[in-house]
Amino acid sequence: MDLKSSLHEIHKLAREALESAADMKIVEELRVKYLGKKGKLTAILKQMGKLSPEERPVIGALANDIREKLEALIEKRQSGFKLGARAGRLESETIDVTMPGKQQTIGGRHPLSIVLEEAKEIFLGMGFTSVSGPEVEYDYYCFTALNMPKTHPARDTQDTFYISDDILLRTQTSSVQIRTMEHTKPPIRIISPGRVYRSDQVDATHSPLFNQIEGLVVDKGVTMASLKGTLAAFARMLYGEGAQVRFRPHHFPYTEPSAEMDTLCYACEGIGCRLCKGEGWIELQGCGMVHPAVLEICGIDPNEYTGFAFGMGLERIAMRRYGIDDMRLFYENDLRFLEQF
Ligand code: DAH
Repeated sequence: MDLKSSLHEIHKLAREALESAADMKIVEELRVKYLGKKGKLTAILKQMGKLSPEERPVIGALANDIREKLEALIEKRQSGFKLGARAGRLESETIDVTMPGKQQTIGGRHPLSIVLEEAKEIFLGMGFTSVSGPEVEYDYYCFTALNMPKTHPARDTQDTFYISDDILLRTQTSSVQIRTMEHTKPPIRIISPGRVYRSDQVDATHSPLFNQIEGLVVDKGVTMASLKGTLAAFARMLYGEGAQVRFRPHHFPYTEPSAEMDTLCYACEGIGCRLCKGEGWIELQGCGMVHPAVLEICGIDPNEYTGFAFGMGLERIAMRRYGIDDMRLFYENDLRFLEQF
């Protein structure tokens, strides 16, 4: 067969095959078979060298014509399949807007975050500003400047995680009191929430990491009455108008006088139960009038200014708020627990 007849033959076979191709994949296979680098048409063109100079342009033109026709046919069949596929997809994707939706699981806020937000709101509403301080702290800010000399029992290495001789993980947010007074002139009204660390065994009421909210007010004429009024108002806003509180004398090295504030036990309402260990009351926070020595060490004149301070455990507030009896639940990230808030 001469080249011309071969070309016509190839054209005819390719056209028939393309016209009856059932899908996109077959069209592509045919494209490779006829027009590809090793395709049949290409093979013919490679033989052009053998032709006489008169024949060459004639066969060349015919080959190009066939190539163009086949390419156009391939194009036509491909777009036909594409349209068909789209139509099929639209058909099968018909949306029934009356069908119920799929419920997405939405994450919630952690109970400690909720309670922290509430406490912050209350204090911000009273004119406090929220500040933060470092968790890796100098011994000076955590102890020395808070009137706890080197020999003070609270520095015991059994309670404190020391990093070096004078650097530790803060055991209380009271360190932020010192940092604040060092660079702020009274009037001062701050709270400072944050993580604290103590080398405690884990149990229902202890954890080596927990959260505190510290508070400090320094101004002219601040008294124990200001302290009691502020903290009782806080308890009422947090726990409801009926919340009852009491203050008991206590000792902290950095306050004088010092007290602890209790709230009526939420489980027994004061009768005495397992939760409040028969007391009827639950300790909420430590507080007191800032010790003159502490004011002085921060460069504030205790003859001109007085202040009060307080510190409470966030976990304890959240436990009372939600009636939770085991602190470990806050840290275990059990969804069955977390999903309840
Ligand atoms: N720092 C105390 C603690 O960790 C709590 C505390 C008590 C903070 C009295 C104070 C305060 O600011 O005046 O238990």
